[in-house]
Amino acid sequence: MHSINASNGSEEIQHFDNYKDGYKLPRNPNGWYAACLSKELKEAEVKPLSFFGEELVAFRDAQGKAKVVGAYCPHMGAHLGHGGTVVEGKIQCPFHGWQFDGTGACAAAPFAKRTPQSARSNLDGYITEEVNGVVLVWYHVQGKEPDYHVPEIPEMDLKQWMPMQHFTLTFRTHVQEIRENFCDESHFAFIHEQEGPADITWNPEGPLAHHHSHLTWKYFVKMGLTDEKYRFTCDSVFYGPGVLVSRTRGPIDSATIGLCTPIDDEYTQFTLMGTSRKVFPGLNWFNRMSLMKTAKRDVLLEGEIWSHKKPLEKPIYQAHERSMSKFQKWYEQFYDGHSQQETTPLRVVNS
Ligand code: FES
Ligand SMILES: [Fe+2]
Repeated sequence: MHSINASNGSEEIQHFDNYKDGYKLPRNPNGWYAACLSKELKEAEVKPLSFFGEELVAFRDAQGKAKVVGAYCPHMGAHLGHGGTVVEGKIQCPFHGWQFDGTGACAAAPFAKRTPQSARSNLDGYITEEVNGVVLVWYHVQGKEPDYHVPEIPEMDLKQWMPMQHFTLTFRTHVQEIRENFCDESHFAFIHEQEGPADITWNPEGPLAHHHSHLTWKYFVKMGLTDEKYRFTCDSVFYGPGVLVSRTRGPIDSATIGLCTPIDDEYTQFTLMGTSRKVFPGLNWFNRMSLMKTAKRDVLLEGEIWSHKKPLEKPIYQAHERSMSKFQKWYEQFYDGHSQQETTPLRVVNS
């Protein structure tokens, strides 16, 4: 907390900076995170990325597989994301032509008698997977292998569903704040236009967690539409700290994939992909647009709150607000191996 006492002593202005003063959480919980969407990474493209407090680059190898490696060339420190190229599936530095494969290992150093092969001459390599049109990157502070995977989401490809749309926003908040919002029963009434708090059933299962709730849109209630058919059920699965798949069934059936990735000590990138089930041609476009527009409006409202809120050590949860602490207990596992002050991530080298 920064306190500024005005010279006459009668006024005190207080400004709470939640990042400098409050958050004690390590920046990067262990897990799978979105690096980019598949369609954002073209063949032969080198894409610079800033995540986990690091500079990274993504590219596609000779088989078209997405790879993510550290951005700084170990030769003399050029940034591969600025002028780097892909040559026969390897990433080539723009400065003196060193090449690196998808694991980050040095594969060529022009004019050198022998290709350098020490750990120091390699880029850091991250384990990557591509699923549901998303390039996922695995982060573990101690370099452990993934202990879960994100499955295919059938709605992505089924003819009965509209093509996925997405939006991406950056918020000044910790990655946990965005995820635990889904377990905050009361906010559904104020941010998401529901009749009252959500009734959430929370079932953790290792690094996954299943979340079930019923939602009642308050405008349906105002219009007297209170039958069961006007209620939504929402079934969601948390795949670690970075991926949340959510399905609603009701007046509109929808499927969304919520992706959040730590950028640095202050910011988190949030992407929402979403689709709705086709009903009939005139309505399909409208349903998907309403879904995505409403979601974006709501998350922007939340973002304003997340960016300015003060993290409390002891919030005053009420009897109906029972899911936040369950969520936080489940989430603790993703800080395994982190120290409170940890700021330098260890990397995982692809095997
Ligand atoms: S700095 Fe990359 S090859 Fe020299
Ligand atoms: Fe929310």
